[in-house]
Amino acid sequence: MAIERTFSIIKPDATKRNLTGKVVAKFEDAGLRVVASKRIQMSQAQAEGFYAVHKDRPFFGELVEFMISEPVVVQVLEGEDAIAKNREVMGATNPADAAEGTIRKEFALSIGENSVHGSDAPETAAEEIKYFFNDDEIVG
Ligand code: CMP
Repeated sequence: MAIERTFSIIKPDATKRNLTGKVVAKFEDAGLRVVASKRIQMSQAQAEGFYAVHKDRPFFGELVEFMISEPVVVQVLEGEDAIAKNREVMGATNPADAAEGTIRKEFALSIGENSVHGSDAPETAAEEIKYFFNDDEIVG
């Protein structure tokens, strides 16, 4: 296993319900370190660009609307096997399928309002981190 970095978003349904700290505690309890963090209001163009891979999916419009509906917290998480570990802590995309103790099982409202996003592979992690952070904003 290697030390990796992954990208995370605490989504509007979670920031709106004041769950930022509880979500971060889940990451930290799993051994992930927050090495960059900022609370932002995403623009429509930013959300459309970030989710461009989903632009032909039927839920794309709804997804973008949701992601700009309230502030989000974008973060870089670092640790052993961080990409897989983060996905494990988040739980399945649909909270109905998420395992006990995961963020989505405890906090998510639906498949769309599912509290967190996490990178799915090293290439996407690198791209997603770059989309929101300059190198000098990441302090390990
Ligand atoms: P995320 O990991 O942010 O990546 C794409 C997002 O699309 C996903 O989490 C879900 O929140 C969202 N999504 C996936 N399927 C659906 C769906 N059927 N309806 C609404 N949103 C969806």
